[in-house]
Amino acid sequence: MAEFDLDAYVGRSKALDLFAFPWDDVSHHPVSAEAVRTLRYMQDIESHTIIYLRELLATRAVDDPEVATFLACWLYEETFHGIALARFLEAAGSPVGPREQPAARIPGSSGSRPRGCRSSPRHGRTSARCT
Ligand SMILES: [Fe+2]
Repeated sequence: MAEFDLDAYVGRSKALDLFAFPWDDVSHHPVSAEAVRTLRYMQDIESHTIIYLRELLATRAVDDPEVATFLACWLYEETFHGIALARFLEAAGSPVGPREQPAARIPGSSGSRPRGCRSSPRHGRTSARCT
């Protein structure tokens, strides 16, 4: 099994260039319902990397400087993948829309977030709204 080259990964890690995509052209190409469903799933996974990271930050894994370095780059890259997929879906006429937020972790609490908090990725920005 090949060894992971952290220095090489860090050296080439970067955000996806959201200006490199012809977003205005997306609407000229129909996207099937099955493709939209798949892209929404992928967008969900990519944009929830921070949730996975939160879980990992609660472990001793981050005591390893190489792991911590990898996680920082991983979050940076995956966040932009999620933004790009959200932007594509919106350009295709199937915006992601609001979704439930995962439960907040408050020491001593049951871990639930106040009811009514949702977020919505739009135009490359994610906004949170609590009612
Ligand atoms: Fe990704």
